[in-house]
Amino acid sequence: MTVQTHAHASDEEAMILDLVRELVAEKVAPRAAEIDEKQEYPRDIKELFAQSDLLGIPIPTEYGGLGGTFLTYVKVVEEIAKACASSSLIVAVQELGMLPILIGGSEDQKKKYLPKIASGEWIAAYALTEAGSGSDAAGSMRTRAVKRGDAYVLDGTKIFITNGDVADVVCVFAVTDPEKGANGISAFVVEKGTPGFSVGKHEKKMGIRGSPTVELVFENCAVPAANLIGPEGEGFKIAMKVLDKSRPGIAAQALGIAQGALDQATTYARERIAFGKPIGHQQGVGFMIADMKTEVEAARLLLYEAARKCDAGAPDVTLWAAMAKLKCGDVAMSVTTDAVQVLGGYGYSTEYPVERMMRDAKITQIYEGTQQIQRLVISRNVIGKGPAPAR
Ligand code: CAA
Repeated sequence: MTVQTHAHASDEEAMILDLVRELVAEKVAPRAAEIDEKQEYPRDIKELFAQSDLLGIPIPTEYGGLGGTFLTYVKVVEEIAKACASSSLIVAVQELGMLPILIGGSEDQKKKYLPKIASGEWIAAYALTEAGSGSDAAGSMRTRAVKRGDAYVLDGTKIFITNGDVADVVCVFAVTDPEKGANGISAFVVEKGTPGFSVGKHEKKMGIRGSPTVELVFENCAVPAANLIGPEGEGFKIAMKVLDKSRPGIAAQALGIAQGALDQATTYARERIAFGKPIGHQQGVGFMIADMKTEVEAARLLLYEAARKCDAGAPDVTLWAAMAKLKCGDVAMSVTTDAVQVLGGYGYSTEYPVERMMRDAKITQIYEGTQQIQRLVISRNVIGKGPAPAR
């Protein structure tokens, strides 16, 4: 990350956010309902973000990125998610997919992959989850990587992989030593087209329907040993360090969805007349808006502080990233549900965007660690870990 003076960083951030607001208003918001309805990956929006240098905000300039802060990055995700949660994932998952390389990769790997990811020429993805291994990411992982000569041969199946079918590079986590638990997991960069690597089932989902979620299959898939990220056995720690920096991105998506729904509910509450006055002036609805606003602002403060901790490399970033994801995800769910309530029958109809926002909000309580896992991480950081469970 480049070192910037505070004034310089905030000027640059203001310029980026102005640009993003304009792009969102002109190009993203008008497409949001269609993207959801057609369940298609919006390549036009991806190109727009690539051309506007939004796909490599926290990538250092020496690797072709903007060298921006994580704070700027989360604000960009938030702005996009106010209008279209699926589109915000284009930016967030590009970051998730490149972070294993940025955090754990060699100089050669960084030079080879990061500039293409930053420019958007290549799409990145992150493959940790398996059918039997979601929350228990280390203990239940089954995908194996066995060293043969100067290659690792991968066998196994990953599921629920965001952008897995459109990705050019996927960071895959696999067991290299089954005797060592979390310390027997390693990380690999796998390029699209590697023999033995294929895309399986596409999920049909409740929300974020413009963001592809797929199964990835590895069958006798030989990956060059040079694609091992970091030392053998370091993969799980890399995966966790990545989540410390990517969970704020999902928190930002959640916050953006919540703000978008609050904006819709506020406008409606001002305009809709019942019993002779705007419903927002009826205490029942006015107080709902008051609670929604308070929750959104509280979540925002927590998220921005977590992002600042990412920028500072603070030792308690794991705790803050988990708290931000927990709070923002829960606020997104409650605020979008209340927005549907404020709009009543219209809120339940696809004529207004709040029903989509409510469907999109739900995933933020599930992926990048369920809310239950965030609480586990938070409590372990506050209280301490305690004895390891018997396996
Ligand atoms: N940073 C560095 N190291 C860490 C770490 C962190 N944040 N968290 C754990 N570690 C280390 C531990 O110190 C430990 O090291 P030692 O063995 O040397 O002591 C090792 O990793 C194992 O850690 P734990 O014993 O804490 O592991 P655990 O099995 O108890 O599980 C967990 C930890 C927090 C539950 C973890 O499995 C977890 O986060 N699960 C949820 C997985 C998840 O978030 N998946 C999301 C998939 S990505 C996604 O959803 C993307 C998308 O679609 C957009």
